[in-house]
Amino acid sequence: MGNVTFELADHIATLTIDRERALNALNRELLADLGAAIELARAERVRCIVVTGAGTRAFVAGADVGQMATMTRREAAAFSELGNRVFRTLERLPIPSIAAVNGYALGGGCELAMSCDIRLASTRAVFAQPEVGLGITPGFGGTQRLARLVGAGIAKELLFSGRRIDAARAREIGLVNDVVEPEALMDAALGLAREIAAQAPIAVRATKEALTLGQHVDLDTALGVEVAQFASCFETNDQRGAMAAFVEKRTPAPFEDN
Ligand code: CAA
Repeated sequence: MGNVTFELADHIATLTIDRERALNALNRELLADLGAAIELARAERVRCIVVTGAGTRAFVAGADVGQMATMTRREAAAFSELGNRVFRTLERLPIPSIAAVNGYALGGGCELAMSCDIRLASTRAVFAQPEVGLGITPGFGGTQRLARLVGAGIAKELLFSGRRIDAARAREIGLVNDVVEPEALMDAALGLAREIAAQAPIAVRATKEALTLGQHVDLDTALGVEVAQFASCFETNDQRGAMAAFVEKRTPAPFEDN
């Protein structure tokens, strides 16, 4: 995976978008590498994924404009489908993901961050969907996820104007969960990832599944999903062990994911 580095420690996979000379811009090859890294995280049964960008300037400065400049409509559709497939796979993975946004998150970069479950930003982060300034629309989910995250009014303001916002504004509108100093970003992301990884993995996966499946259906259907996910955690060793420890006033053993 030449454009994405994969590091595994303490059940946490850190995926670093690593094409620093182009501010980590997403081309076809990089998207394929990212897809492979996501599948590796799934195969390794990691408990949390952290996604960040190499270097100090950019998380991801967008889809690769050089590669898009001469695309036909057919090629553009395939490119958009590729990006959407990879980002949707990340979003639908039963593993929580955290975007550690260390700089520019423009276009496809903002869209990648939005495909993660949680976003932490450094004070240097800059967000925008500047596609209309390039004569195109967002193509990796931006026309859909931004409104779902921040509401249609603010999403329209950002999408129609292409304007950039800083990390403080991103937090204000709910685009990011928290903002920290650049030097503290990876510690904050990995700290949260460790907290998540210390919980019962079956329960965390079931919680993400209930949330994801429930978000776009009516409440009664969603509560049915919750019942099924709740029940699926029972009779597991981790559930039995944790509850027995509580009842017997003992410290529970670490979770084993079974
Ligand atoms: N695609 C390709 N190359 C990019 C890039 C991109 N999105 N963003 C930056 N780069 C490259 C630059 O071409 C430059 O390469 P060279 O050194 O070979 O010239 C290198 O990264 C450094 O960039 P700059 O010299 O431009 O650095 P800067 O500090 O002057 O500006 C920036 C930084 C404001 C991020 C500027 O690079 C920029 O505006 N980049 C494009 C941002 C953008 O429009 N992103 C959206 C793309 S469209 C999209 O993403 C569609 C979609 O939804 C699928």
